[in-house]
Amino acid sequence: MDLVVLASGHGSNLRAIAAAIDAGECAARIAGVVSDRSSAEALDFAAARGVPTAVVPLRKGDDRQQWNIALADALADFEPDLIVFAGFMRVVGPPILARFPGIILNVHPALLPSFPGVDGAQQAIDARVRISGCTVHVVDEGVDTGPILAQAAVPVLPDDDRDSLHHRIQVQEHRLLPRVIHWVGTGALELRPRPRFTVPVSGSDARLVFPRLADEAP
Ligand code: GRF
Repeated sequence: MDLVVLASGHGSNLRAIAAAIDAGECAARIAGVVSDRSSAEALDFAAARGVPTAVVPLRKGDDRQQWNIALADALADFEPDLIVFAGFMRVVGPPILARFPGIILNVHPALLPSFPGVDGAQQAIDARVRISGCTVHVVDEGVDTGPILAQAAVPVLPDDDRDSLHHRIQVQEHRLLPRVIHWVGTGALELRPRPRFTVPVSGSDARLVFPRLADEAP
């Protein structure tokens, strides 16, 4: 399965995916890494690994529709079977969603539908919740609103600040995202025409799956 990863920044999720692939735990090949920022560390990691990269910047005043089309073209060049937003800090529109329907995933640092949008960790701190976590979901036209595929929870500790909570959440992201990619790569999770599991999930995986999906008959 050819995977294209989109990242705007640090790229720790990209590294986690690459490590899981190297360990034989993630049935995918990273065909390309795409960013909206030429300074994204994720691009350096990809280049060092020999993975082709592309940058499609969105500057102030740029036409968003044109940017969407340019990004869709850049993605199409890699002929992806699956696209993953791993710290990609942009909302995409119809030119991308229509061209890659149902095969774009995102990882979000909160237990959706709580705390969508920017800085899920800070939102959880501000709301004084005791449990937060991360979510892997299908990207749709909304902001972090698409079908939830898997979640992992972490405690919010009394002395947590944004960074300590985000760090705890990221440990789970690095475990969860490669796992979901693996399910797709092995056919255990079909994304189209709608997300559904083709085999019963068991063991520790069962705890990561949104129950409604796990319960659906093949
Ligand atoms: C992650 O916490 C992800 O959930 C959010 O942005 C962060 C990206 O981290 N969308 P990294 O660039 O993968 O280190």
